[in-house]
Amino acid sequence: MAPRMLCLLLALRMLPLSLAAAMEIQVPDEPVVALFGRDATLCCSFSLEANFSLDNLTVIWELTDTKHLVHKFSGGRDELADQDGGYANRTTLFYDQLAQGNVSLLLRSVEISDEGSFTCFVQVQKHRKAAVTLQVAAPYSKPSMNLEPNKDLKPGDLADVTCHASHGYPKASVLWQDSQGSNITEHVTTSQVANEDGLFDVHSVLHVLVEPSSTYSCLVQNPVLQQETQASVTITGQHLAFPAAALWVTVGLSLCVVVLLVILAYVCQKKIRQSCEEEEENTGTEEQDEEGEEPKTALQPLKSMESRDDNEQEID
Ligand SMILES: *[C@@H]1O[C@H](CO)[C@@H](O)[C@H](O)[C@H]1NC(C)=O
Ligand SMILES: *[C@@H]1O[C@H](CO)[C@@H](O)[C@H](O)[C@H]1NC(C)=O
Ligand SMILES: *[C@@H]1O[C@H](CO)[C@@H](O)[C@H](O)[C@H]1NC(C)=O
Ligand SMILES: *[C@@H]1O[C@H](CO)[C@@H](O)[C@H](O)[C@H]1NC(C)=O
Repeated sequence: MAPRMLCLLLALRMLPLSLAAAMEIQVPDEPVVALFGRDATLCCSFSLEANFSLDNLTVIWELTDTKHLVHKFSGGRDELADQDGGYANRTTLFYDQLAQGNVSLLLRSVEISDEGSFTCFVQVQKHRKAAVTLQVAAPYSKPSMNLEPNKDLKPGDLADVTCHASHGYPKASVLWQDSQGSNITEHVTTSQVANEDGLFDVHSVLHVLVEPSSTYSCLVQNPVLQQETQASVTITGQHLAFPAAALWVTVGLSLCVVVLLVILAYVCQKKIRQSCEEEEENTGTEEQDEEGEEPKTALQPLKSMESRDDNEQEID
């Protein structure tokens, strides 16, 4: 909204002058979003007057606030003696398009400190200027998750789930969700610290009362890029305190039971089939169908036990 208002104000202020002289200058209304480390084009163009010559053209790009020189072109060539050091070797105009009134600036390898307003000043006989806003952005890395303490947790213990995403800009909004997708951002401490490039590292810590098999998801959103990256951690049986010997005994016993059940089922099925065949031989009736279903029902408890095993596996 603000940049658009600014443009409107500029346009209104230029109106009386543009009536007198034909030259008008055009810049984008919306901020230009540039990815950190990439090149950005700040667009600016003006309407050509009759018998325009490049020799009469002066273009000055400067920082709107500080008036530091970003790029200057005058008398048919660049004049960079007074250029701000931070822009040395990073700027260029599209020289082949100057004659068409295109005085856009190419800014190489965008830095966080480039963010802000740039003024485009054009002089032929009359002069005009307008401002372009540059918004820098960088996507966040996929978060890494950590659970502390990592083992020997008992249900009801307090634990910290940490979510870490890095090298993003501007600051992220961090959202936590539980297994049901509910917002649990209340019990969270988030810090966002800029590194030497001005990119943010996000650390977010969720304090939870441990419940078995619960999932905690951390969503990191970049407001400018509409980027969302997420990761989750699941507290499983493995994190919970459970004597190792007891665990192996349980696993061993369950395996024995499963094997026994399989053998039993197999034997039963064989026996039933045998008795059916005998009956068939003896009577030749259709009873076979009814009895044929019995082994299936005998197998069902076995199946549901297997799927319960699957669910207890660690997912994180
Ligand atoms: C532009 O051209 C017109 C004729 O087309 C001429 O009268 C005028 O002097 C020229 N102006 C400049 C600045 O060269
Ligand atoms: C400017 O960039 C060119 C090539 O991109 C490089 O060769 C030159 O050394 C750079 N000059 C400075 C002062 O950084
Ligand atoms: C000016 O030139 C640049 C680079 O070719 C281009 O991206 C931009 O759209 C041009 N602007 C106008 C108004 O023609
Ligand atoms: C989640 O909860 C936090 C804190 O209670 C709140 O600030 C945030 O707006 C909520 N987010 C959503 C998407 O509901």
